[in-house]
Amino acid sequence: MAIAALTLAGCGADSSANTSAQPELKVTGAYMPAPSMDTMAAGFFTVTNTGGADTLTGVTSDLSDDITLHSTKNGTMEEEKSFAVPADGTLDFASGGNHLMFENLTHRPKEGEKVSVELRFAKSGTVKISMPVKSATYNPKTGH
Ligand code: CU
Repeated sequence: MAIAALTLAGCGADSSANTSAQPELKVTGAYMPAPSMDTMAAGFFTVTNTGGADTLTGVTSDLSDDITLHSTKNGTMEEEKSFAVPADGTLDFASGGNHLMFENLTHRPKEGEKVSVELRFAKSGTVKISMPVKSATYNPKTGH
């Protein structure tokens, strides 16, 4: 990503506008609560961006061919086509809010397992993460 940013800056000679800056994404705090069925699981994580704006456009994983992006509004979840990752900001997926929904699982992941997930971004491309499976009642704020 750093190389691409340099190339762009050299070409346009305009590195001042933050809107054209390359995103610098970091994904932290990923986890999946151990699902009680093999029909459905949720996934959570935080994207921290120290560069220009990006967009999360999709998710793939060996665990499921059917992964959708959901937001929660007034207690009701809605499917979203994409999520904005603001410049110098964060995109949060957390219990009770935004979440990944995995359906028709290839198997039921157990606590302690790691699920590999690829997050697809409009500018940054694919970011691979390893999503540890935690207990069904795991709370990232308390760590258990
Ligand atoms: Cu949902």
